[in-house]
Amino acid sequence: MRPVAELIQEHGPVKMVLRVLEKMCEKIDKKEDLDKSELEQAMYFIREFADKCHHGKEESVLFVIMKRNSNIRDNGLVDELVKEHEAGRVLAQNMADAVSSNDMEKFKRNSLDYVKLIDQHIFKENTVLFPMVERSLTDDEQKELEGGFLHMEREVIGKEQHDKLHNLIHELRETYS
Ligand SMILES: [Fe+2]
Ligand SMILES: [Fe+2]
Repeated sequence: MRPVAELIQEHGPVKMVLRVLEKMCEKIDKKEDLDKSELEQAMYFIREFADKCHHGKEESVLFVIMKRNSNIRDNGLVDELVKEHEAGRVLAQNMADAVSSNDMEKFKRNSLDYVKLIDQHIFKENTVLFPMVERSLTDDEQKELEGGFLHMEREVIGKEQHDKLHNLIHELRETYS
């Protein structure tokens, strides 16, 4: 699989957790009780998959290669995407704190902001960033990207953890569908 296709594919499970968060917020609106361990699982998925695995590949491999390529005129796109990852981390931390302190209104507020932020972030990457990557990277850089992703999958995340995270999000999505 081409490295960019791998990132596009990973947007699938990330979007699944966004839909789960929306469902959780609907339940909060209806004053229904939420299972604390399911809230914690959603937070765990965001931290480990969306942030560490997916945003990690973008920041420590793809963006590094892009910054180095002097032919790429991105008009600040990469910096903007990094800022959005950072803003997402702040919101995710607020959500996790809200789960710990059982503050469901705070969880809802931050979750809805997170959903909005990451939905538009994914749209921007799929429609602007990735076509730019496919257009601009040399074959050698594509190979480097592939190797960098493989290294992250093996050394940073691990196949077992990756599979575990996929199962987790599919189960959560079934519960919150
Ligand atoms: Fe991203
Ligand atoms: Fe992404």
